[in-house]
Amino acid sequence: MEDSAHTPPLDARELLQRRAAELPGLISFAGGLPDPALFPKRHLSRAFLAAISERPSSALQYGWPEGLPELRERIAAELAERSIAVEPERIIVTSGAQQAIQIAASVVGTRPRIAVERESYPGALEIFRSARGKLVELEDDAHLYYVMPSVSNPRGQSMSATARGSLLARARACNGYIVEDDAYAGTRFDGGGEPPLLASAPERVFHVGTFSKTLCPGLRIGWLIPPRKLARSTLKHKQATDLQASSLSQALLADYLRTGDFPALQRRARARYRRKLRRLLAAVERELPQLRASPPIGGFSLWLESSLAIDDSLLLERAIEQGVSFDPGQQFRARPEKTLAFRLCFSAVPEDQIETGVARLARALKRLTR
Ligand SMILES: Cc1ncc(COP(=O)(O)O)c(C=O)c1O
Repeated sequence: MEDSAHTPPLDARELLQRRAAELPGLISFAGGLPDPALFPKRHLSRAFLAAISERPSSALQYGWPEGLPELRERIAAELAERSIAVEPERIIVTSGAQQAIQIAASVVGTRPRIAVERESYPGALEIFRSARGKLVELEDDAHLYYVMPSVSNPRGQSMSATARGSLLARARACNGYIVEDDAYAGTRFDGGGEPPLLASAPERVFHVGTFSKTLCPGLRIGWLIPPRKLARSTLKHKQATDLQASSLSQALLADYLRTGDFPALQRRARARYRRKLRRLLAAVERELPQLRASPPIGGFSLWLESSLAIDDSLLLERAIEQGVSFDPGQQFRARPEKTLAFRLCFSAVPEDQIETGVARLARALKRLTR
């Protein structure tokens, strides 16, 4: 059967993951989801009612493609706390970071050469592949360099000062642009971080951010700060894509941010994620000694590698039989590799199920290696 635009075929891994998501009792380390216990439901309900009843023309009417002025000011203020001075007029509110990456990729042209790290965010790889981009390495010349300098996905690491310097030098030398995906910046366990690349090279950088990881993904609100000389064409692309990000989400979010709860929520989240990671690391060390893990500095996941030549889909199949799931490593790899790697997301797993989940995974791996 031919591929149809209406019924995209799922590959074997996707099918397994979808089936797994519906199994009762399954412990899922998949997905990169924030902990739902952290969603500020009471504050958001109040913000929703306030947005609709007090500002109905912002919340329910069409808005400008660049987004609600008040929200852009709030985003500029959040960035100022991280020592990035950006005028709110330069910020485009997007439907999530995903759309921001997609718009940046389409602004640089058709069939671009896009440089990515050895492991990268699968959602971005999908965008680049469907734009028929050629994926190359960060050391190569490219039209676009896609990186996550503050906290990477899946590794949860930050980019060293030397790597940042070489990246900027290379992009300048080949007249390329950089997409700086800062989606996980707000999840650093130490609450700190180096200034983003945007601060050193605003003329080269598309800066991407989101409220999905620090507040909730359901609002679908992110942002894009394009290089000044591409501001007009970027906004045109945004408008052509979906006219604007949801007015209701933007108004609700602006109201929520006004309550002042957000900084406290971020502190609670950091403490909670740090605790979960600690439990996961201890369990992995005990149950999966044959795997290598480097503790992340932020983010929602732990990246595990090995020298075992095991197909990650096969391990996922066995793991699901044992009642646990994870994200197979091949999804993150720009080029296929033979050795087993996978990502365990600790963020949304109930704390008291972490050890059981890892023990189930260890049983599944044992079945393949004995
Ligand atoms: C690195 C990275 N960038 C972007 C996104 C997309 O985020 P959003 O929900 O804002 O579209 C994700 C989501 O998992 C991500 O992990």
